[in-house]
Amino acid sequence: MKPLLEVRDLDIAYSGSRGRMPFRRERADAVVRGVSFTVGANETVALVGESGSGKTTIARAIAGLLVPSRGQILFQDRDIGARVEQRSKELHREIQLVFQNPDSSLNPRRRIRSILDRPLRFFFRLSRRARRERIGELLQDVHLDPRYMHRFPRQLSGGERQRVAIAGALAAEPKLILCDEIVSALDVSVQANILDLLRELQAKRGISYLFIAHDLAVVRWLAQRVLVLYRGHVMEEGTSDEVFSRPFHPYTEMLLKSVPEPDVSRPLLAVAETDGRTDGVGWTGKGCPFSSLCPRHLGSICDEETPPRRRVSPTHALLCHIPPAELAAAQASLDSLGDGAASHRASGS
Ligand SMILES: Nc1ncnc2c1ncn2[C@@H]1O[C@H](COP(=O)(O)OP(=O)(O)O)[C@@H](O)[C@H]1O
Ligand code: SF4
Ligand SMILES: [Mg+2]
Repeated sequence: MKPLLEVRDLDIAYSGSRGRMPFRRERADAVVRGVSFTVGANETVALVGESGSGKTTIARAIAGLLVPSRGQILFQDRDIGARVEQRSKELHREIQLVFQNPDSSLNPRRRIRSILDRPLRFFFRLSRRARRERIGELLQDVHLDPRYMHRFPRQLSGGERQRVAIAGALAAEPKLILCDEIVSALDVSVQANILDLLRELQAKRGISYLFIAHDLAVVRWLAQRVLVLYRGHVMEEGTSDEVFSRPFHPYTEMLLKSVPEPDVSRPLLAVAETDGRTDGVGWTGKGCPFSSLCPRHLGSICDEETPPRRRVSPTHALLCHIPPAELAAAQASLDSLGDGAASHRASGS
């Protein structure tokens, strides 16, 4: 079956100043490079990586807010990447974006009913009365009391506001929701409730998600497939089970080691042994993007040569000079590494 969304060899570069549209640049300036993946109907694909790895940039390109400098974005087999302004209303409706901070989408001066009324008015021809009914249903869909429609966002908790933001996306009856760190600011127990809600909505409505997180543990039981992003490159991709078991990409290994238990206050990356190599802020695009921090760094080959994308299985691939069998052998003592992520779920619910 054809995927719902297909991203092919995407490069995205920003022009010099923040906030301006990106335009065609040299590949070396791209903050997202050669990224390819698919999201199937009724599927959740997770995009994981630390801050600055390019997750939001990819989501914005799919949402039509940025024009990629290279590559293609296909939605239901149609190329939607090139001309943002040419996107149809239908396409805007079918792909919805939810952000980490619900306050960016919830106008503090409007009541919830007016916030949810906007997408309904914009996308559908419905009577006032039908819209009001629909708003009540949407709130129920995200497990909020319909009476919440009379409240202002500030009268809701962070988790409740995020539910309203999800209801706002649902109002459009989308096929794909891009969830950009939507649980990252919430407590672990509230996170688990929102993740449960996403799964329930998927089961009911067959929605697909591109679920973006900086915490691998959060995505383990939610996503069928996971992409691990570092400096705009997909370092590892596979099914959830594959990414959470050996061989791990050295960067995935580092991410998993840094979050043995759920603790949102913990820094994302453990301090790694890097033999005096410094963080590659000045990485020039040569060699492996992770070479300056990699605990399994091999030597000059990692600094000089672009690593190959090695297939472990038809669905699992690693970007590394170390062959998967060698990585797996070197990681023999790490068999339980992915399990911390499973306990995250157990303790969070
Ligand atoms: N508007 C912008 N202008 C210039 N650079 C940007 C802009 N937005 C993000 N960047 C840069 O692009 C890279 C990826 O950012 P982003 O996609 O926000 O990462 P993530 O969502 O993974 O934290 C970062 O290096 C960031 O500094
Ligand atoms: S290519 Fe080298 S630096 Fe990059 S992840 Fe593999 S071992 Fe580490
Ligand atoms: Mg981001």
